[in-house]
Amino acid sequence: MDFLNTVLIVGSGGREHALLKALLRSDRPLCIYAYPGNPGMERDGCTIIDKKIDTWEGLAGWAEENEIDLTLVGPEMPLVEGITDIFQKKGLCVFGPTKAAARIEGSKVFAKNLMKKHGIPTADFEVFSNKDEALAYLEEKGAPIVIKVSGLAAGKGAIVCDTMEAARKAIGEIYDRKSFGEAGSQVIIEEKMKGEEASLFILTDGNNYKILPVAQDHKAIFDNDQGPNTGGMGAFAPTPMVDKSMLKQIETDIIVPTLAAMKEERSLYRGLLYLGIMATEDGPKVVEFNCRFGDPETQSVLPLVECDWYNAFKACALGRLDTVSWTVKPGYCVNVVLASQGYPGEYERGKPIDGIDEAEHAKPNRDVYHSATALDNEGHFVTNGGRVVSVSAWADTLADAIGIAYEGVAQIDFKGKTFRKDIGAKGLQRLKRARQS
Ligand code: AMP
Ligand code: GLY
Repeated sequence: MDFLNTVLIVGSGGREHALLKALLRSDRPLCIYAYPGNPGMERDGCTIIDKKIDTWEGLAGWAEENEIDLTLVGPEMPLVEGITDIFQKKGLCVFGPTKAAARIEGSKVFAKNLMKKHGIPTADFEVFSNKDEALAYLEEKGAPIVIKVSGLAAGKGAIVCDTMEAARKAIGEIYDRKSFGEAGSQVIIEEKMKGEEASLFILTDGNNYKILPVAQDHKAIFDNDQGPNTGGMGAFAPTPMVDKSMLKQIETDIIVPTLAAMKEERSLYRGLLYLGIMATEDGPKVVEFNCRFGDPETQSVLPLVECDWYNAFKACALGRLDTVSWTVKPGYCVNVVLASQGYPGEYERGKPIDGIDEAEHAKPNRDVYHSATALDNEGHFVTNGGRVVSVSAWADTLADAIGIAYEGVAQIDFKGKTFRKDIGAKGLQRLKRARQS
């Protein structure tokens, strides 16, 4: 009989639910806990730690007491705050970068300076910690331009400004209204790049790396990329936007030098590195790095990869990624997010949700991930946030995956259900163009 390994998943969104489902797909018997987790994860057999733990030290103490073999950290905040270092001090195994390495997301100034120093392609930029100097630079450069706060800002820290009016307003938000707090103490003003974007995830132990199927996110709330940015309204993978030759170029020009640079800066990167890439006229450039899996991209990537994920994450965390192998299934996976009406602005919670089980169980190649649900007194799922649930489907063709995902979307119902109707459409168009040429 196999030894029962124990896993702790830190986080509570669709990404963490996708990590759980990926772990459960292998034959390895696992006992999985989540903190704080969500009701969908609990439904899938994960034990929710429902005691209140105030610090990462406290959680590490809990993990030690409960003899956790592997901790997976979903969100960026704990990583940037140093959860990995805290767990490691207790001799616990964590999949996720150290505090020093997580600066690649936690400090955009660190990431941009790293890229500049090591010749990694990205938008030209300047760093400011003073409003007048930032404004003077703005006047000199003119619009369009991009203004970013250096620290974590829940995905709202990059303001793409097409007019000077918008740019001045952004500077006012940062310096006068202090809307970003401490995260805005340093500001980056950078060139606006043009091109389609992809989300590329690599698993790396700092020396070796493995690339997961490349995804495309859909950040804007409305179809055709209209409206304000959200955390992501859907994703698909693999995207035909990144072909073999572009991937080779990204490896040579971006991945290899980035990992070498992190080592040189005494910040060996071990964990999942998310590269936000823009395909510009001058070749692929880095828009941003994240120190964790993307959400909802993960929900479109992991269903395509057959792997003993416990083994892969553990080996990676121990510096032995070279021993890991996986099989990428042929075909495509599409994930569509269902959000509350009003998101990314104000929205109501507590709307009863129907059809989750039907959507999940009617097809073997479809999954439902909980992002923000809660259980009411009768044990019925209700909405509990902006992005509520998402539906993934995988099939041999992108068109079929889209069809099966949207069939699942139609089965789920709650008041104010909001979703994009064009997830994957960019990929379909690109495939069609490729067939015609
Ligand atoms: P970030 O928070 O850096 O990921 O940026 C969020 C989004 O803003 C990106 O996914 C892009 O769509 C956009 N963006 C950020 N930087 C630039 C840039 N230099 N040029 C054009 N768009 C950008
Ligand atoms: N979907 C974008 C992100 O996870 O940052």
